[in-house]
Amino acid sequence: MASSKEWFETVAEAQRRAKKRLPKSVYLALVAGAEQGLTLSDNVNAFSELGLRPHIADLPRTRDQATTVLGQDISFPVIISPTGVQAVHPEGEVAVARAAAAADTAIGLSSFASRSIEDVAAVNPKTFFQMYWVGSREVILARAERAKKAGAKALIITLDWTFATRRDWGSPLIPERLDLKAMLRFAPEGIMRPRWLLDFARAGRLPDLTTPNLALPGQPAPTFFGAYGEWMGTPLPTWEDIAWLRQQWDGPFAIKGIIHPDDARRAVDAGATAISVSNHGGNNLDGTPASIRALPGVVDAVGDQVEVLLDGGIRRGSDVVKALALGAKAVLVGRAYLWGMAAGGEAGVSNVLQILRSGIDEALLGLGRASIHELVRDDLLIPEGFTRMAKP
Ligand SMILES: Cc1cc2nc3c(=O)[nH]c(=O)nc-3n(C[C@H](O)[C@H](O)[C@H](O)COP(=O)(O)O)c2cc1C
Repeated sequence: MASSKEWFETVAEAQRRAKKRLPKSVYLALVAGAEQGLTLSDNVNAFSELGLRPHIADLPRTRDQATTVLGQDISFPVIISPTGVQAVHPEGEVAVARAAAAADTAIGLSSFASRSIEDVAAVNPKTFFQMYWVGSREVILARAERAKKAGAKALIITLDWTFATRRDWGSPLIPERLDLKAMLRFAPEGIMRPRWLLDFARAGRLPDLTTPNLALPGQPAPTFFGAYGEWMGTPLPTWEDIAWLRQQWDGPFAIKGIIHPDDARRAVDAGATAISVSNHGGNNLDGTPASIRALPGVVDAVGDQVEVLLDGGIRRGSDVVKALALGAKAVLVGRAYLWGMAAGGEAGVSNVLQILRSGIDEALLGLGRASIHELVRDDLLIPEGFTRMAKP
C-alpha cells in the first residue's frame, strides 16, 4: 500500500497528482480522447445520470464481490484494461500486474505495451493478452501462440479503431525513439517534472517506446510507430477472420469494443466467450455514446449467451455497481489505474484498486445487497432516454 503521505482517497486526486508529476505530453497521451472529446466526457458523465435506490435497515453484515471472468476467479469485479502504457513509470505493466495480483484480479496486457507478456505473466498468472488485427494471419497466430506459451489465460481482440488523429485541444508529440535528439527536444518538459525523470534515472532506463509483444521470433521489438504503421497497412478484419482466430485459440476469447447489439450478436456467432461493451475510452469514433448507455441494449441482446463486460468511464466503486446492476459481469478500468501508477507506481495502482473495492462495498451496503450477484436494474433510477439507443 502507499505510505500515508502518498495515499490518495479518490481517483480524481490520483489524476491531479498525475498531472503534476508527468511531463505534459505524457499526461496528454493518457487523457487521449478524439476530436471534440464528446465520448470521452460522456463515458464519465453518463454514470452521474444514474441514481441509486438505497435501503436503510436489515442491511447485510458482509458483502461478497468475488466472481469469475474468462475462466479466472477474481476477488472483485474489476480487471485491468489493456493500455499502451508508454513512459508513465519505469516498471510499466509489470508494476500494474503485481498490483492486480495483490488484489487477486486479472490484467489485460496490450500488444502495444512496453513490457513483455513473459515478464507480466510471470508476476500475475491471471494475465489476458490483447491484440489488434495487425499483420497477416500467420503473424497474428505467431504472436497469439507466443502469448499462450508465456501463460496468457485468454485472448482479447480489440476491434474498435478508426485511426482517428485529431483532437481539438491538440495531440501530444510522441517521439519515435527516445534518442539524444528527442531528449533535447523534450528536455524542458522533463526539467519541469524532475520526479518523473528521477524515477526513470533510479531504474537505470529511459522510457521505452518499443512494443516487445509485437516482435517476431528472433527479431528486435518494433518501435511504437513502426508497429502502428504495420497496423494501418493491414487489411481490416472480417467477422470470418475473427471466427478463424477464435478457432485457433484454445481457451477463453474476448472481443472488446462493442456498442451495437448487432455486433454483440456477431461476436456470439464468432464464438466469443466474453465481450466488452466499450468505445475505447472515448479515443475512437467521437460521438459514440458512453459505453454505460449501450450496455442495457447489448445485455438484452446477448446477455444469456456470453459474459458481458464493460469499460469506459469507471472512476469509483459505485460506477462498477451501476454497470453490474445493468447486467455487466465485471468491468475493466483504464485511466483510473494509469493515474494511480503515475501518482505512485505499483502502490498507486493498489491504492486505486482499493478505492474501487471499498466503493463497491459501500454501494452494496447502501443498496442492501449481500453480493454483487444480487444486483438488478431496479437498484437504479434510470432516467428516460438514458440509453439513447433504439430497441435492439
Ligand atoms: C492511453 C490509453 C491507451 C490505450 N491503449 C489500448 C490498447 O493498447 N488496447 C486496447 O484494447 N485498448 C486500449 N485503450 C482503451 C482501454 O483499454 C479502455 O478501453 C479505456 O481506457 C476505458 O476507459 P477509461 O480509461 O475511462 O477506463 C487505451 C486507453 C488509453 C487511455
